[in-house]
Amino acid sequence: MLAVIGGSGLSQLASLEVTQRKMVRTPYGEPSGALTLGRIRGRELVFLARHGYGHTVAPHEVNYRANLWALKDAGVEGVVSVASVGGIRRDIVPGALAVPDQIIDYTWGRRSTYFEGAGAQVTHVDFTEPYSAPLRARILGAAHACGEQIIDGGIYAATQGPRLESAAEINRLERDGAHMVGMTGMPEAVLARELELPYAAIAVSANYAAGRGESAHAVPMERIEAVLAEAMGRVRRVIEQLVAG
Ligand code: HPA
Repeated sequence: MLAVIGGSGLSQLASLEVTQRKMVRTPYGEPSGALTLGRIRGRELVFLARHGYGHTVAPHEVNYRANLWALKDAGVEGVVSVASVGGIRRDIVPGALAVPDQIIDYTWGRRSTYFEGAGAQVTHVDFTEPYSAPLRARILGAAHACGEQIIDGGIYAATQGPRLESAAEINRLERDGAHMVGMTGMPEAVLARELELPYAAIAVSANYAAGRGESAHAVPMERIEAVLAEAMGRVRRVIEQLVAG
């Protein structure tokens, strides 16, 4: 059974036949909301809205540890994250989908490990390949099977938010090698790794990053909702194919 963590623009999966909503408590506190258990075309799936079902939890306030712990506890075999990004690379146009293969972490002050506190063994997980290659391949295969265009690979920069970046900050991220920027990729990816949960992401470009393309002087905030609404339709199709296929 797979889990899907939905980000901005994806607080539910219409095609999910809901069987149960489960509030979970974890040793790390409460997840962003109840786990939604259900089926798509007969296959079981767990869904969690990263920002809560009413979109009230900001990226830096998400209890990533509780979210991943709750999913692990529910017995999922992998986690597919859906996360909106700003496109830095030219081809990551608004509305584009990508499956990143690398990550750079610029976040700070987030609880980003399970291996801390009294009695915890100091543990260093390998993070050379932050995303699961087999799960990435499954997502790409599903997109292919349903004819949705999706970019294979890319470097995701995780920023703190909730504000967007300055143009100079985006220039720096680009010099660092980043292709897209979002606020939730970390510590989600590393916590999944610590729990030995295969994890991959579908990045959905909501806008060009600050200083790029039509965001040359300002990110057109008023357009983002419509861009995401259209793109999430395609994401849903990919997820349905992924789960059913
Ligand atoms: N920056 C950071 N996170 C984002 C952006 C952005 O431009 N767009 C959507 N999420």
